[in-house]
Amino acid sequence: MPATSVIGAQWGDEGKGKIIDLIADRADVVVRFQGGANAGHTVIVEGKKHVFQLLPSGVLNAGKLNVIGHGVVVDPEQLLTEIAAFHADGIDLTGRLLVSGGAHVVLPYHKVIDRLQEGRKAGIVIGTTGRGIGPAYADKSLRSGLRMWDLVDEQRLRPRLTANVEDKNKRIVALGGEPLAFEEVWEQALEWGWKLAPLVTDTGRLLRAALAEGKHVFFEGAQGVMLDIDHGTYPFVTSSNADSLGIAAGAGVPPRAIGRQLGVCKAYCTRVGEGPFPSELSGATADRLREGGSEFGAVTGRPRRCGWFDVLSMRYAAALCGFDGLCITKLDVLSGLRHVGLVTAYEIDGQRVEEYPADTALVERAKPVIEESPGWKENLSGVRRFGDLPPACRAFVEEICSRTGVPWEILSVGPSREATIFRESA
Ligand code: GDP
Ligand code: IMO
Ligand code: MG
Repeated sequence: MPATSVIGAQWGDEGKGKIIDLIADRADVVVRFQGGANAGHTVIVEGKKHVFQLLPSGVLNAGKLNVIGHGVVVDPEQLLTEIAAFHADGIDLTGRLLVSGGAHVVLPYHKVIDRLQEGRKAGIVIGTTGRGIGPAYADKSLRSGLRMWDLVDEQRLRPRLTANVEDKNKRIVALGGEPLAFEEVWEQALEWGWKLAPLVTDTGRLLRAALAEGKHVFFEGAQGVMLDIDHGTYPFVTSSNADSLGIAAGAGVPPRAIGRQLGVCKAYCTRVGEGPFPSELSGATADRLREGGSEFGAVTGRPRRCGWFDVLSMRYAAALCGFDGLCITKLDVLSGLRHVGLVTAYEIDGQRVEEYPADTALVERAKPVIEESPGWKENLSGVRRFGDLPPACRAFVEEICSRTGVPWEILSVGPSREATIFRESA
């Protein structure tokens, strides 16, 4: 059984959580391999809304193993909060959740530094989620970070935490903040370590064994290709490899293990935070997409910037990740628009460009070339077969697929599990 990846193909919030929850019944294991509590993956089951930040979105499917791989940066407080929330809802994760000992720990000073850095007058404002993601990955690269294995071992923890708090306090003060009291951080970290110790293991070994046994492993991306640290709109990106290139490294599996790559995209585009967004709309259409699609951040509540579907960035994402199929979400949100748009080229410095330029400076100067096609009036939320979609909607989907060169596999027409069209029923 090949492993399957589900990757955000745009700027995040494409609906990865819904897709993972939907197809996780076919999985044995669901794995997060990068990112941290900056993610907000919404799953709606039987009218109840769940937002996953660190837990893999497979946990609502009984009997599946859920793994937080070592490429993730783990905020222990958030993880314990999520586990407790599920426990309160009667969902017991005992024996179904494992955390890599190699995953780096997000500590309180990372969050303080993240927020202080963003608040600086000088320097670039990224519009981060303030979850300490960048500072935690920076420590990982500097080789000064603490890993889950350190957190659960008091002997190792104390000297490493002492050195880190001392060092980070200097940075916090330089940024105009209040230094943290070591004993407070120590007490918190000790408690987190005690509570999380039973979950911590070598998940890479376990995943390689699962793959060797023919188990079906699903990799759940967080963020999206255009927010990838290497291939996104740097510096307006997150601090990890948020595309399928991050799977092998972040989960500890051979690249060839990933047999099927699914890219999740909205039928339009959104972006939250700063940075170039060539297909961005303003005015009534943007407001209509934001309201119709409830485009407000699952983690921060910030309004998302909205624009038409960007064919160039999607083709780039597909080429980079090698998508086998697209999951196109939120088609229902476009109902009622007289015209729907696709960005089919950019105009940069007076030149028409049809290939996404990887240089952010060029993307910043890109003006969208928009091709409009007729919209449709019908409410799509009850449609379950491709053939039952309005002809204009079918034509729109087919246009996306032919222009990006990737066939659709799943179409989503509402937030619930049921509001889905699978290719099998086309
Ligand atoms: P993720 O981060 O990629 O998992 O996406 P988010 O959960 O941040 O944002 C997607 C939002 O769209 C969530 O509120 C979902 O419940 C919702 N959603 C997912 N698919 C659809 C769809 O097809 N139609 C509508 N209207 N909402 C959807
Ligand atoms: P999911 O997994 C959308 C954005 C932030 C900011 C930039 C860097 O729900 O799709 P960070 O806190 O990571 O340092 O912020 O990345 N960002 C996301 N945007 N969806 C996400 O996750 C995001 N995670 C981070 O808004 O622009
Ligand atoms: Mg999200």
